[in-house]
Amino acid sequence: QHVELELEAIEKGGFEHFMLKEIFEQPRSVKDCFRGRVNADEGHLVLGGLREYLDDIAKSERIVIVACGTSWHAGLVAEYIFEELARIPVEVEYASEFRYRNPIIKEGDVVLAISQSGETMDTLAAIELAKSRGAIILGICNVVGSSIPRITHAGAYTHAGPEIGVASTKAFTAQVSVLTLMAIAVARKKGNLHEDTFRRFLFELERIPDKIEKVLKNADKVKEISELFKDARNFIYLGRGLNFPVALEGALKLKEISYIHAEGYPAAEMKHGPIALIDEDMPVVFIATRDQSYEKVVSNIQEVKARKGKVIAVVTEGDKLIPTMADHVVEIPVTHEVLMPLLSVIPLQLLSYYIAVMRGCNVDQPRNLAKSVTVE
Ligand code: G6P
Repeated sequence: QHVELELEAIEKGGFEHFMLKEIFEQPRSVKDCFRGRVNADEGHLVLGGLREYLDDIAKSERIVIVACGTSWHAGLVAEYIFEELARIPVEVEYASEFRYRNPIIKEGDVVLAISQSGETMDTLAAIELAKSRGAIILGICNVVGSSIPRITHAGAYTHAGPEIGVASTKAFTAQVSVLTLMAIAVARKKGNLHEDTFRRFLFELERIPDKIEKVLKNADKVKEISELFKDARNFIYLGRGLNFPVALEGALKLKEISYIHAEGYPAAEMKHGPIALIDEDMPVVFIATRDQSYEKVVSNIQEVKARKGKVIAVVTEGDKLIPTMADHVVEIPVTHEVLMPLLSVIPLQLLSYYIAVMRGCNVDQPRNLAKSVTVE
């Protein structure tokens, strides 16, 4: 027993929980994910496992992404990036919904499964179905040699290393990293990316690990905020564009490990329902980085403040306006708009972690949840 506990302490590398260790590992796990794939000096981007299929993807008329949980959120981020850069229509489906209707799949459609474990039953069944209908099946998985990579035509591993905490953190940023690389590679293949823009992406990608490191330096700030809101009964998370899936992921993290009811919404949808919930007891987390919807998000923040909601905002470094409105702000460094989710999700992971710890929850093994769901 004693030996086991000591072993576990070693595995946690000095962190109190696996989840915290995994959150702090992200500068490294993202770097590992880029290793051998991105080289800005040489203007080089390769995803070895997908090379043979790059042409087919570039020619495809649509991409269907199937996934569950956090992986589904990574899929939503990918939808924005693929459509923006590669100009291919993307649909993101819950694997469980996809498999139980009669999905329209034709020969040559690309179906992309995202799964940390590579074992999720619904995702596995969804791709088996799509495969039987002639689709090209690609996988983005973390666990090498797991079931999903074994039945796909091709794929790319996320190389995040083993993830022990049930709530997915570093696997999410690794999935988004690989999907971003894939979107850039396909966009380039299609001739949609200027050499300059392509180079600028590579340059920015290589800087992401250091920028994640910088976000993690704000952990104590997030901890202070957590202290103030740990007893809240509800939370709303709002973001637009690429930050909308980040809002969903932030809300999921909080639900999973702290058992606080939380909802993620696209900020503009607030007026169609969630705004009715806002009063002085409602914390609202805004992912309000400097991007094309910044001004709109600012007005959404004002709407919440006018109803006395408590605003916690994730903002871009140097933002002067939002700190005058929000109750609390956490800064993240500037990067290309498309890469923002890799940074903006980190404070939300930390927020859920600290709140769960303060509430005395079992962070690494939350009640009723499993790391990989191999049943229906
Ligand atoms: C479970 C886990 C989640 C995960 C989801 C999908 O619910 O608790 O963290 O996001 O399954 O798992 P997968 O391994 O397919 O990414």
